[in-house]
Amino acid sequence: MNILILGGGGREHALAWAAKQNPKCDRLFAAPGNAGMANIAECISLNIEDGDAVLAFVHLNAIDFVIIGPEAPLAAGVADALRAANVLCFGPSKAAAQLEASKHFTKSVCDAAGAPTAAYAHFTELEAARAYVTEQGAPIVIKADGLAAGKGVVVAMTESEALDALDDMFGGAFGAAGAEVVIEEFMEGEEASFFVLCDGVDALPIGTAQDHKRVGEGDTGPNTGGMGAYSPAPVLTDAVARATMEQIVRPTLKEMSRRGTPYQGVLYVGLMIKDGAPRLVEYNVRFGDPECQVLMMRLGAQALDLLQACAEGRLSEAKVHWADDHAMTVVMAADGYPGAYEKGSMISGLDGLSASSRDMVFHAGTANKDGAIVASGGRVLNITARGATLQEARDRAYAMVDQIDWPEGFCRRDIGWRAL
Ligand code: AMP
Ligand code: GLY
Repeated sequence: MNILILGGGGREHALAWAAKQNPKCDRLFAAPGNAGMANIAECISLNIEDGDAVLAFVHLNAIDFVIIGPEAPLAAGVADALRAANVLCFGPSKAAAQLEASKHFTKSVCDAAGAPTAAYAHFTELEAARAYVTEQGAPIVIKADGLAAGKGVVVAMTESEALDALDDMFGGAFGAAGAEVVIEEFMEGEEASFFVLCDGVDALPIGTAQDHKRVGEGDTGPNTGGMGAYSPAPVLTDAVARATMEQIVRPTLKEMSRRGTPYQGVLYVGLMIKDGAPRLVEYNVRFGDPECQVLMMRLGAQALDLLQACAEGRLSEAKVHWADDHAMTVVMAADGYPGAYEKGSMISGLDGLSASSRDMVFHAGTANKDGAIVASGGRVLNITARGATLQEARDRAYAMVDQIDWPEGFCRRDIGWRAL
């Protein structure tokens, strides 16, 4: 099977790594890929948000299966273009990707599905939104409706913070994404993520994880794309997982099918869990990054079979072979991230690290410059390990971190603190 993976972050390196271990994988391509993926895949340059361009590459290179990593090509309808041409593809249609691309859409689906989530109101006018905040009081959560690279959510602990956030959003701080705003009840509890493969009809849970969104230790400082993750998430017990499937995931899939836009791909279910009861915080229509790195570390080669069964509508026959293990990934980022950072600094010490089914460095923003690995993004490396316990996974991951020589980079030293 010839496979094309769209994307070039740590998530896509982990997907490529898992696929490559499966004997059915023949040629593996990645667009654009990164310096780490280049060791296992042919990295190519392609406009991955252009369905016609992707399709042309698929035909030219006899690609059998396309795996779409990030949300942008999904929201741009690349999966639709591929499926219309009968190309096997992992990832939801543009219409179904609305579950991530529009907060208001997701809220309306939850209403129709009866899925537990925060109470909300939806606004297109600043004055009405301000009046609602004043009436509700704080804490309260203000969300730009559209895709805002993970930055369109303000959890306001005071009324004035909430009003400032509204002024920013309606003032154009997030462009078109902020022209509509959802205001939500503040939910208390512990957050965790649940990953479910969906083929439009059937749904198969493939793991749980928790990430660390804040840049600083002790979960302080600005939000990032994620500074580390581990799997499984202890708070997401089997009972919580069952409740999530029954109350949230299955009713959502049913509602999506009823609307004529069945959901196919991985559904990333962001939950707030309090007293054993899950409520939906958000859906994403792709794997989390860095959550994917720990899920792939635990699933290994079978991940390709599962993604294929999902794309082919055969999830009812698919089974996950669970190992009773734990995985952790520690993100190394460029100094300054998530603010301004320099590109081009050299990273050494990677060659001496063992790469195995238990220890892997997944690359994100890296490039190869005259044979050396240099940083080319904000989040740069994902140091990932697996162990019989979370503590073992953690120790192995940080032992690798300590062998990497990159003075211009940093990582959090407390990934997993909540679970440990
Ligand atoms: P979202 O992009 O919707 O996942 O929101 C980003 C983050 O904001 C979440 O991961 C939560 O930490 C927080 N958040 C979002 N909605 C709520 C809510 N209704 N109550 C409390 N925290 C929330
Ligand atoms: N790590 C959070 C996300 O991928 O959205």
